[in-house]
Parts: sequence; C-alpha cells; structure tokens
Amino acid sequence: MSNPVMAPGAFVIAVDGPAASGKGTLAKAISRHFGYPYLDTGALYRGTGVAVLRQGGDPANRQMALEAARSLDAQLLDDPALRTAQAGSAASIVAAIPEVRAALLQFQRDFAAQWPGSVLDGRDIGTIICPDAPAKLFVTASLAERARRRHLELSKGPGGADLAAVVADLAERDLRDSTRSNAPLARAPDADLLDTTELSIEAAIAAAIDLISRKHRQGAG
Ligand code: DC
Repeated sequence: MSNPVMAPGAFVIAVDGPAASGKGTLAKAISRHFGYPYLDTGALYRGTGVAVLRQGGDPANRQMALEAARSLDAQLLDDPALRTAQAGSAASIVAAIPEVRAALLQFQRDFAAQWPGSVLDGRDIGTIICPDAPAKLFVTASLAERARRRHLELSKGPGGADLAAVVADLAERDLRDSTRSNAPLARAPDADLLDTTELSIEAAIAAAIDLISRKHRQGAG
C-alpha cells in the first residue's frame, strides 16, 4: 500500500525510540549521510509545552496546549530553552493530549512528503505519521545508559543536573510516552531495532547507516 501523504518515490527514514536513546544524534548523522532534510518532531511537543509554561499555564491544560500547538512559532524550535529537563517533561505531558497530536500531524506529514527523501525522529513516526516509510529504525538503550548520557548533556547546561533525578525523570517519561492511549511510543513491526547501550556514537552511526542503506538498495532495486 502506498502512503498518500508521501511523494512518489520519496525515501522517508523514520527514527523512533525513547528519550535519550541516541535517536537525535543518529537521525542528524543519517540526514547528513543521505543529504535529506531532518525534522526533530520532539521539538514540536517541546515548543508547545514551553509556550504553555511561558504563559504561566499547566501543560496538562488541554485548551491551552491545543492553542499553543496551533500557533507554534517555528523560530521557537531552535530555542535552547527547549532542551531543559522541564521542557522535556512539559513536552511529554502535552504529547499525551490527542488534540495536540492531531494539530501537529499534518506539519510532520508535509515535511515527510519532500522529495527525494527526509529523516524524522520521534515516538510515532514509523507507526502513525509515516506508517509506509521504507526505512524505519527503532533506537533503544538501557535506562541506566540513557540517564548517564542525558545527565552528561544537562551537566553542561546552566542548571546542572542530579543523576538520580534524571533517572526518575526518564523512567516517568518512558511510562507516560509508552502507555498513553493515543500514538504511544512503540516499535513498528517492520522497524529495525538498534540497541545503542554498548555502542560508541561512531559505531551506532555506522550500524544505522548500514541498516538504512540496505533498505535504500532494496527500494532502488
Ligand atoms: O524526543 P524528545 O525527548 O525531544 O521528546 C520530548 C517529548 O515529546 C517526549 O517525551 C514525547 C513527546 N514526543 C511524542 O510524543 N511524539 C513524537 N513524535 C516526539 C516526541
């Protein structure tokens, strides 16, 4: 079945996985390797969550979150404020609101329709946004390793970070992201699994490019 939202022949690469699994780093490297544009879909939810917080609102407030999603400012997507732990939690909360997901869906599908291809990372790219993507990766790593990486990243920022708090935050987000009723974090049945727990960044990038190149050759053949 062909996906009506995809341009004919567009090679969409869907990269999904839990927080701090390394999917963003991999997706950027894949984008550079194939020369396709990259969309960090988590930034859409982070931007929505941060916009609600900046208005003094609660990210769980359905109406405020929906309005923030509908009026999302593309310039906000590069704001370093989106990278804080607080923004990540707010993102996970607004992302559980079905109307927010619906409001952000078409933007993602339009991005994915670009020819000759695109790379999107998130939680539901291979399952909901682009179920017919010819290449899908599901990136994982153990909770301890993901927390170690996220802690290192946050320690470089202005706020610092406490490892135990990072573990608790990631565990809470994993639970919320994978148990919500609408578009939960899930591996598509046809996604290649890449566990990065024991891999260096270079080895994980090489493995990801190898898996996707196989799909690329199959598509071309
Ligand atoms: O990938 P990230 O950590 O930037 O994502 C932030 C939150 O956004 C994450 O906890 C869940 C949500 N999200 C989502 O529900 N669907 C996506 N496609 C991307 C992110």
